[in-house]
Amino acid sequence: MTQDELFKVLVAHCKEYGFIFPSSEIYDGLGAVYDYGQLGSELKMNIKRYWWEAMTRLHDNIVGIDSAIFMHPKIWEASGHLSAFNDPLIDNKDSKKRYRADVLIEDYIGKLEDKIRKEVEKAHKKFGDAFDEEKFLETNPNVLRHRQKINEVHERMAKALNENDFTELRQIILDCDIVCPISGTKNWTEVRQFNLMFSTQLGSVSEGANVIYLRPETAQGIFVNYLNVQKTGRMKLPFGIAQIGKAFRNEIVARQFIFRMREFEQMEMQFFIKPGTELDWFKQWKENRLKWHTALGMGEENYRFHDHDKLAHYANAATDIEFHYPFGFKELEGIHSRTDFDLSQHQKFSGKKIQYFDPESGESYTPYVIETSIGVDRMVLAVLAHSFHEEQLENGETRIVLSIPAPLAPVKVAVLPLLKKDGLPEVAKKILHELRFDYNVQYDEKDSIGKRYRRQDAIGTPFCVTVDHDTLTDGCVTIRHRDTMEQQRVKIEDLHSIIDKEVSMTELLKKLL
Ligand code: GAP
Repeated sequence: MTQDELFKVLVAHCKEYGFIFPSSEIYDGLGAVYDYGQLGSELKMNIKRYWWEAMTRLHDNIVGIDSAIFMHPKIWEASGHLSAFNDPLIDNKDSKKRYRADVLIEDYIGKLEDKIRKEVEKAHKKFGDAFDEEKFLETNPNVLRHRQKINEVHERMAKALNENDFTELRQIILDCDIVCPISGTKNWTEVRQFNLMFSTQLGSVSEGANVIYLRPETAQGIFVNYLNVQKTGRMKLPFGIAQIGKAFRNEIVARQFIFRMREFEQMEMQFFIKPGTELDWFKQWKENRLKWHTALGMGEENYRFHDHDKLAHYANAATDIEFHYPFGFKELEGIHSRTDFDLSQHQKFSGKKIQYFDPESGESYTPYVIETSIGVDRMVLAVLAHSFHEEQLENGETRIVLSIPAPLAPVKVAVLPLLKKDGLPEVAKKILHELRFDYNVQYDEKDSIGKRYRRQDAIGTPFCVTVDHDTLTDGCVTIRHRDTMEQQRVKIEDLHSIIDKEVSMTELLKKLL
């Protein structure tokens, strides 16, 4: 199966098993908006819990808030979103499809990178153990040609984006012979800017309603509460404010399932620091956040940093943590050094003094900020895409398994009576009722035990517990591990500790210390 086909199967799987549905589906859906079903919402909640506890519980100096989505419209003037939160768009005149100009160019670069990867794989096969990848990358003429092209295009794009030079962006697309994936032609319009904010009205229209905006990031809710939290929490620098919440962007080119949505959720943390210390903190937060990701065990090779070519209007350093999705390495999280831009702007626009009095130096100043910002939905997609496998079993059958990191799995344990009679359901339900205080558990007595195992594998349940006739006399059950399919006979009273070792959020959090 190609990565493209695999991705389609994954999207269908998410719907079939109650993870993610297209929004308003009975009305034919709403573009780039999705609903989380019974399992998707559990997975999402576990991801949010992992992030929230890692931020607020593991750091004495980080607290969480929950600010409103509607905010004073002046906030978006101050933050620069009204004037600068734009995407450069280009249309293909034949297909009438619209694209982000920078994404078209990045996809082109991605294709060149794929070509390099393929050259490496080919040479690896040819030379076997004697293959020296580093030397190959430095000397192979095809690789060098592709690399030179990548650097050249990259540099031109970065310059054009930084200078808002849309004529040059279009020229790069023409020079690289980039065609529309639908029409296959190079019949492109000019590149235009498009603001991504949704607006609505507060108050009744007849009384002269105010235009307000659906927040495009949760961060501003943190900045405008900086003084409240600092004062009421008696916070001393450095300290952080974390928030999880919905954000809205009128993405014109919404693609790739929940990767780019119009309504999505962010987990953002703004870390307030003394000016001049930002690059040090930027480095520390990069390490800290990468550790949060890799502690999940989804393969260190699936993450990489990508420094920004075009810095946002507020940043003096920025990097993305990219994840290896089925459609290539793409941004999962952003880490930005936002200077004192936001607090200074809010001070200017609100007329309120937003400063920190440093008791050590006796000075007052506007704090600098390091931001970490991750999309919950992109994290859900990373987990699902990485976990989804179709396995060939020894008996010739296949099974679909979601090897979701156990602490994030929507259902932790399924309790299954071997038969629907002879008192087995009663014992199974007793076990279920004891485990449900600590874990999300499921009871299933329908179909053969094999079918029930397959159903649990397909939704990523780490453990199945089977009650059989022997249980009635020896007080033991069979516990089956999702990934290895290994089965163990254990005492009912040992179940909790066996399960806990793998699914415990506490154990996962301890890896971060
Ligand atoms: N406060 C900074 C900020 O919003 P961003 O890079 O625009 O920065 C941060 O967004 C994160 O939010 C991204 O890394 C991504 O995970 C997520 N995100 C952004 N736009 C998204 C969209 N349209 N759909 C889903 N997630 C999105």
